[in-house]
Amino acid sequence: MEEHDGAGLNRPETKLLFLICLSSVLLRACSGQTLNVFQSERPEWSLSHLAVHQSSGAVYVGGVNRVYKLSSDLAPLVTHNTGPELDNQACYPPLIMQPCSEPLARTDNVNKLLLVDDLHSRLLACGSLYQGVCKILRLDDLFILAEPSHKKEHYFSSVNQTGSMSGVIVSRDPGRDRERDATLYIGTSVGGKQDYFPTISSRKLPKDPESAAMLDYELHTDFVSSLVKIPSDTLALVTHFDIDYVYGFSSGNFVYFLTVQPETETPGELFYTSRVVRLCKGDDKFHSYVSLPVGCVKNRVEYRLLQAAFLAKAGSVMAAALNVTERDDVLFAVFSKGQKQYRRPSDDSTLCVFTIRDINADQREAAVVLSGGRKPGAALASGKRRPVHKSAGAYRRWFLWFGH
Ligand SMILES: *[C@@H]1O[C@H](CO)[C@@H](O)[C@H](O)[C@H]1NC(C)=O
Ligand SMILES: *[C@@H]1O[C@H](CO)[C@@H](O)[C@H](O)[C@H]1NC(C)=O
Repeated sequence: MEEHDGAGLNRPETKLLFLICLSSVLLRACSGQTLNVFQSERPEWSLSHLAVHQSSGAVYVGGVNRVYKLSSDLAPLVTHNTGPELDNQACYPPLIMQPCSEPLARTDNVNKLLLVDDLHSRLLACGSLYQGVCKILRLDDLFILAEPSHKKEHYFSSVNQTGSMSGVIVSRDPGRDRERDATLYIGTSVGGKQDYFPTISSRKLPKDPESAAMLDYELHTDFVSSLVKIPSDTLALVTHFDIDYVYGFSSGNFVYFLTVQPETETPGELFYTSRVVRLCKGDDKFHSYVSLPVGCVKNRVEYRLLQAAFLAKAGSVMAAALNVTERDDVLFAVFSKGQKQYRRPSDDSTLCVFTIRDINADQREAAVVLSGGRKPGAALASGKRRPVHKSAGAYRRWFLWFGH
């Protein structure tokens, strides 16, 4: 339970454990003391996501076929079943909408997204079944408030791998933005269905869970929309090009995603790059979209394959070391070595810390470069292979590492 070596970090349950331990390290509770443990009903139903409701302390956990509500000391309180159900990934629209002629099989529902919508006191739980539909659940008892599934905006992606989708809920700024409710920013791999699903988009989260506008794009016109699709010329360069969204968070006026994607400039051999994607909150046209490579270097070895990440406040010790204030956000990120073995990462990994201030400084440089009127989609494909020391500076800040 206490192990968190780099070798296992690609397994979803280990990622989750890493995050729990990392949070606990910050609470000084992870070292040698007895931990409460919660396990899913079946070992193969691995857990993938964890969300905490700050005001009640309740812990929500998503896994294969289940969403659980636990007490703050991890005692199970409510179990909500999400699968398995009859399905086939080729059924589009999904068979809850329309009969499907594909052969159906009992299919596990893998939890891909689990977020507490604080503004409206409810839980958003999205799975892999039926092209990736979401449930809006009551925090108390996980009762289904709504399960929007009748139009294409309601399908996020049928990919059944965790670690490929992330979401961030941004509540309105009461002073400035009286019209707006809450917004969901969502980044997801699309599993070859780039015509159906955008890779990144922003969606409405109205107060009424049954609202017809639920999960609609914040902006959708013939000319501009709050979404980016994977461009077909990128797919021409790398046939199975896709973007995994490993982590998402908001800080200050921005929303960030940490992604891993194949590079497009090295035909024949697949190199992956980890990137930080940044959008301005409230930018419905996605003109502020910037994406930059991220990774770190230890003993002249490049660590560029992101495995997991976590945002936290710097705290006093780290604040002094990083020249930020205690309340500043810092990003912890685990990378494995190299750029090739993304699916089966090597044992060699490292934990790096970035200040959001530094990431923003790098993104400002990049925004200047990109502001030649290029569409956001163009930035998706610009994954040039560059040695670390010649990069725009995105790698230069690493602070400490554990393990090897
Ligand atoms: C994901 O889908 C593939 C293909 O349908 C299937 O073989 C695999 O078992 C699924 N994985 C999970 C975790 O359900
Ligand atoms: C610390 O940060 C401030 C800005 O917040 C900067 O002016 C100063 O040069 C930094 N000091 C060092 C040693 O980097």
